[in-house]
Amino acid sequence: MKREDVLMEALPYIQKFYGKTIVIKLGGHAMVDQNILNTVIRDAVLLRYVGMKVVLVHGGGPEITAKMQAMGKEPRFVGGLRITDAETLEIAQMVLVGKINAGIVALIANCGTRAVGISGNDGNLLIARKMEPQRVKVGETVEEVDLGMVGEIEEVDPELLNGLLTQNYIPVVAPIALDRQGRNLNINADTAAAEIAIALKAFKLINLTDVDGVMNAERTMVYHRLSLAEAEAMIGEGIIAGGMIPKLDGCMKAVRSGVTSAHVVNGNKEHNLLLELFTDLGVGTMLTL
Ligand SMILES: Nc1ncnc2c1ncn2[C@@H]1O[C@H](COP(=O)(O)OP(=O)(O)OP(=O)(O)O)[C@@H](O)[C@H]1O
Ligand SMILES: [Mg+2]
Repeated sequence: MKREDVLMEALPYIQKFYGKTIVIKLGGHAMVDQNILNTVIRDAVLLRYVGMKVVLVHGGGPEITAKMQAMGKEPRFVGGLRITDAETLEIAQMVLVGKINAGIVALIANCGTRAVGISGNDGNLLIARKMEPQRVKVGETVEEVDLGMVGEIEEVDPELLNGLLTQNYIPVVAPIALDRQGRNLNINADTAAAEIAIALKAFKLINLTDVDGVMNAERTMVYHRLSLAEAEAMIGEGIIAGGMIPKLDGCMKAVRSGVTSAHVVNGNKEHNLLLELFTDLGVGTMLTL
């Protein structure tokens, strides 16, 4: 394809997305390589300059795990969610808010654009309640496991984000929330991104992760398009597991609640964000109603 063809293929998409809100979740697993993270940030800045309202929500799984292990703590997950005791919450806050969020804001500034780093605590963005104990299969028996300080989002107040977007800032959100008693809770970043996309009436929710999209049981092929019903069936059959469960749950809820499409894209490959948005075929999985 000629270079001008690439640009012309993008034109109808640029027109369609102009002025629309897009929520991009940067997976912790897609932020391990600084050079690639830098290109993702530049792609996001480009989206903003072609007229989209861009909100970034980030995870931090691998870095939180590394810090926990350095402090002699062994991380445990249930249904893709991290069991979070008081000390783990403190580590998660330090890593997410103090390090990753601030780092992303700096990268955006380095591209000549203004970003504002916030967490769900700011401006009542995310109000959550402690999640009920989860029923999990341990061998042959089903046990109830208390996840600790893990939150389930009850309410999203998008006012702060809307204000920042109107003033052309790129908001960068760390997935920590407050409950109604003012206690901090750890929120899965995929869930946070989905709820924020719904509250902002976003056009798209994009999950950047470390796999090429939603894959089959053998992990040999990627589904480029999935319907809600197909995604639900794949969760039921256990084909979608681990961290992909909250991701797909969030995508399904977003699409059911009016977000036009939700995508799962490999953020470890350069410019996948642009290719997913501005080419006919895309590169990852697109979930629609
Ligand atoms: N059907 C599936 N197709 C693709 N990946 C799957 C599937 N089922 C489970 N997975 C797993 O989901 C993982 C992605 O979720 P994970 O929570 O680990 O990353 P992330 O959400 O991008 O990062 P973070 O949680 O740090 O923000 C993949 O690396 C893969 O191992
Ligand atoms: Mg995850």
